[in-house]
Amino acid sequence: MKPKVLVTRMIPRAGIELLETYCEVEINNDDRSLSRSELLNRVTDKAGVLGLMADRIDGEFFDAAPHLRGYANYAVGYDNIDVPEATKRHIPVSNTPGVLTDATAELAWSLLFAVARRVVELDTIMRSGQWSGWGPLQFLGADVCGKTLGIVGAGRIGTAMALMSKGFRMPVIYSNASGRRNELLEKELDARLVSFDELLERSDYVSLHAPLTPQSRHLFNKDTLTRMKNTAILINTGRGPLIKEDDLVQALKNGTISGAGLDVYEFEPNMAEGLAALPNTVLLPHVGSATETTRTNMATLAARNLLAMLRNERPETCLNPEVLEPR
Ligand code: DGY
Repeated sequence: MKPKVLVTRMIPRAGIELLETYCEVEINNDDRSLSRSELLNRVTDKAGVLGLMADRIDGEFFDAAPHLRGYANYAVGYDNIDVPEATKRHIPVSNTPGVLTDATAELAWSLLFAVARRVVELDTIMRSGQWSGWGPLQFLGADVCGKTLGIVGAGRIGTAMALMSKGFRMPVIYSNASGRRNELLEKELDARLVSFDELLERSDYVSLHAPLTPQSRHLFNKDTLTRMKNTAILINTGRGPLIKEDDLVQALKNGTISGAGLDVYEFEPNMAEGLAALPNTVLLPHVGSATETTRTNMATLAARNLLAMLRNERPETCLNPEVLEPR
């Protein structure tokens, strides 16, 4: 009998086809995430689940899925998974690192330029027919070349974003919660590991790539935003709760910092009150990995991971490989 798996929301077909070679696949075909009770009801007889970051994978989920032999996250970020709980229950869990690195770094650059040169605000002016002709004092933005780029969390995506700065001759500084040095960035860009405080004080552009953990939640708040340059621009393509969004709205209103480009939000899909009205922001709907190729690669990686788990093999990108070691 084929193992039963649930895919909690439609993903690119290539991933489903892979799963169908070995499993009986049930898919949530509605174009929305499953509610908590729908999720819990649909996993009771499943051996595997391929889910999204909106699905909370915790003790209650595992209790509802007594036959579960593996969970594959369709995302690199895994703050939705209680990994220690999965490990305690000897259930392997996986994520999708690597395949979305460049797409997400590219989007961080799109936001950086869009905010610096006011691309969205000015596009709106053109479309509404309000432009009356060229003027020397009109629509001035911020330079990028030669400005200091601060990377918070120089993991895969932070590193890719930093490496892409090469053509813009930007001094790069970075901070890591672990304090670990990034030899590639130091060799390629002469980048410097600095304290978080120094990064805040020296950066013209700050780009967030740290994972969301209890320690990094609200890393950017009234206090830390105040320590940034008032000309600085903050970019977030990581996780929304890295920023206390109400404090950011105030900082953008008061001129504490100059602008922000956001792809992620503290309470998705909602935004803090006042954010949408601010002209010095560019706001995107969590599309860091949203290219055709990247989403397909995420689907096939997540599917391969789930198939490996169901066969008691080690998935390519397992978050708790220790549960697969012989006990
Ligand atoms: C991730 O993978 O963590 C993104 O946020 C979704 O693509």
